Amino acid sequence: MKIVIIGANGQLGSDCCEAFHEAGHEVRPLTHDEIDIADADSVSSTCRGLQPDVLVNTAAMHNVDACETSPARAFAVNGIGARNLAEAARDLDCLLVHVSTDYVFDGSKGQPYTERDCPRPLNVYGNTKVSGEHFVQAIAARHYVVRSSGLYGKAPCRAKGGLNFVRLMLKLARERGEVKVVTDETVTPTYTRDLARQIVALAGSDRYGIVHATSQGECSWHEFAQAIFELADVPVRVHPALSSEFPAKVPRPAYSVLANQHLQSHKLDIMPHWKESLRSYLKEIGELSAPAPV
Ligand SMILES: NC(=O)c1ccc[n+]([C@@H]2O[C@H](COP(=O)([O-])OP(=O)(O)OC[C@H]3O[C@@H](n4cnc5c(N)ncnc54)[C@H](OP(=O)(O)O)[C@@H]3O)[C@@H](O)[C@H]2O)c1
Repeated sequence: MKIVIIGANGQLGSDCCEAFHEAGHEVRPLTHDEIDIADADSVSSTCRGLQPDVLVNTAAMHNVDACETSPARAFAVNGIGARNLAEAARDLDCLLVHVSTDYVFDGSKGQPYTERDCPRPLNVYGNTKVSGEHFVQAIAARHYVVRSSGLYGKAPCRAKGGLNFVRLMLKLARERGEVKVVTDETVTPTYTRDLARQIVALAGSDRYGIVHATSQGECSWHEFAQAIFELADVPVRVHPALSSEFPAKVPRPAYSVLANQHLQSHKLDIMPHWKESLRSYLKEIGELSAPAPV
């Protein structure tokens, strides 16, 4: 199949390019220089020229603070951008895989969210991503809306100054010898290489719709940080903190764990446990110190 990947030099986009290529597909990567998803003409002319079988959209404005201060721009990219791609997919009769987020939920459920739970976002980022999901569902006949969580990968996270959470923790620990990390936000950190492989598996199936795709298990950011330092063998004091100690912070869900129910019910779930993925990631970036468990 011919796969067009948007956001191709981002964390997830670059791993999607690699995963589709490894699976034997023809891959056409597109960076922001080559397509602006917020611009309907740019999307329709580029997609018409390429005639993909599958359009994978990993592009987004997902810096939560930037979205809060520039809501119109966030909507233009995350909402209208998704609409433009959905229209292109409809017009070209191709499959659209659109990536979304756990931040569509408010966290009040306190147990893993399934695809049937109703979104109720707490911030501009989450709201604009919900709008994008609705456009995709309403317009693209064949689509996957793939929600994931806490992404980290080997390519720099472009929206966050190049540093994902793992790299940020390692940097701060080495510079300061101590870090302060919240205990009251529970997530499932997910390695983009795993998610990319899951997207390849999905693209070859016809169980369309909303799909939750995160690693297995859950942890607070504090627990995640401790696991990073343990596996990388970095000596550091990890102080527990509450999100209320960072008063300027944009509201985020306290609990945004997703259950991969759709994937599991169709026997498509290939996502590993978050600890196993963290180990693979640290090994890949040359930071793994601890030996593998026997
Ligand atoms: N990172 C997370 O923790 C997380 C968690 C849950 C869900 N997600 C979702 O996962 C997806 C991928 O995230 P990521 O971490 O891989 O992001 P990333 O590393 O920041 O990459 C995003 C890519 O999108 C491109 N882009 C931004 N605006 C664009 C536009 N208007 N038109 C075309 N391309 C544009 C960026 O290019 P430039 O940098 O050149 O603008 C970049 O290549 C996003 O949909 C995000 O909402 C992320």
